[in-house]
Amino acid sequence: MLLTIGKKCHQTNSLPSESNIVTLADITKLIIITMKLILLVYVLLLLGNNYFLQNVESRSQSFSVKVYHQRTNTTSRVIAENLINYKNIYWVGDVCIGTPPQCFKMLFDTGSSDLWIPSTKCYATDCANFVSRFDESKSSTFKHLPNREMFSIAYMDGTRVSGLMGVDSVSINGFTIHHQSFAQITFAKMPSNLANDGIFGLGFYSLSNGNMTPVVFNLWHQRLIDQPIVSFWLDPNPEHSRGGEIFFGGVNSQLFEDEIIYANVTKQQIQRWEIQLNGIKAGSLNLCNGGCKALIDSGTTDIIGPYSDVDRFLRSIPSYNRKDGTIDCSDRSFLPDLTFIIGDKSLILTAAQYVHSHIDSSNGNSVICDLGIWGYYGSVENDDFGWILGDVFMSHYYTTFDLGKRRIGFAKSVVYLK
Ligand SMILES: *[C@@H]1O[C@H](CO)[C@@H](O)[C@H](O)[C@H]1NC(C)=O
Ligand SMILES: *[C@@H]1O[C@H](CO)[C@@H](O)[C@H](O)[C@H]1NC(C)=O
Repeated sequence: MLLTIGKKCHQTNSLPSESNIVTLADITKLIIITMKLILLVYVLLLLGNNYFLQNVESRSQSFSVKVYHQRTNTTSRVIAENLINYKNIYWVGDVCIGTPPQCFKMLFDTGSSDLWIPSTKCYATDCANFVSRFDESKSSTFKHLPNREMFSIAYMDGTRVSGLMGVDSVSINGFTIHHQSFAQITFAKMPSNLANDGIFGLGFYSLSNGNMTPVVFNLWHQRLIDQPIVSFWLDPNPEHSRGGEIFFGGVNSQLFEDEIIYANVTKQQIQRWEIQLNGIKAGSLNLCNGGCKALIDSGTTDIIGPYSDVDRFLRSIPSYNRKDGTIDCSDRSFLPDLTFIIGDKSLILTAAQYVHSHIDSSNGNSVICDLGIWGYYGSVENDDFGWILGDVFMSHYYTTFDLGKRRIGFAKSVVYLK
């Protein structure tokens, strides 16, 4: 529960309207939205099928607080929720829909803007893989849209879901947003080993296939939070009891060190969480000569870049195996830092941070190492598309997405929290 609720006036013009943004062809949207699942699926294939999480359970209490900001002597409303780290592949948290609430494990995704969950009316084979499904007849607050609008989204790896749009109450850690649009999926074609039931898009309205008002805006408009901001702390160690935290309404200063480095999002017709980088250094190589764009995507596991650039780096690693992306674990000790340059500031990932290691139980419990960085072929959406910095990056940098100021901030994550 909120400890206190302060009165606060929002300036009506403090938030840039998105309604004047021209929407390009849907196909463009699909391509952009969907880059992210490619790697996820690839990694799952590499790891094998034995990681399906049977019973995902929240391991510790989520919390919500009214936080006090010493510098400005103010308090503000925020909502915090703990996340579960699923093998460093993705992080999920609970979201409930309907009255009484029906709860789902959701992937919070800054790379897309739609909220969807599976319906009990999904009879497609792949729907059997979802742990929870939404039964609209059991929610007293559920409403169809007037024209029974359809929803569909396709991912580049072939994953597709579609269904019907609806409106209902959506709650996060006990805080309820009323009249939130979402989609109930009645058809799905997707991998069977995902541990999430649905996707909770945190992108801008203009990227939404279902023309849904972003949940963060609704949280803000309905006065559940004081600022339209969502922040992530992702713990990079799946052994830790607390896997991460999603924080709506501001930043949780207990979870990062030093100052926050902000970058404005690049201006686009279809607004997305993309910033300009002035360089990506790997030892003596610059993988983004003359600057490049980077999508900051919580829904992507690794770092993805244009093939030609990533390949220059891969060729500098003698043990790199092109078939499966593995390297000799001993290479970690000499691989260079990756340095991402924002403005004149540097954000560094060490080799220990961008190389994944895991135990191969099928091979005498030997340790396998693979790089958390991949190249993609071809140009997506002309040459406008650059890099994607996914969870391998975000799990070392506390990342805050400010929808009002249209900027993303990064600060060094605290390393360990019990
Ligand atoms: C903070 O604001 C409160 C209420 O306006 C005031 O009573 C208090 O003295 C202020 N504290 C400081 C340290 O300025
Ligand atoms: C970011 O955007 C704000 C508001 O539009 C502007 O005042 C600021 O100068 C921009 N910062 C940079 C580094 O471009």
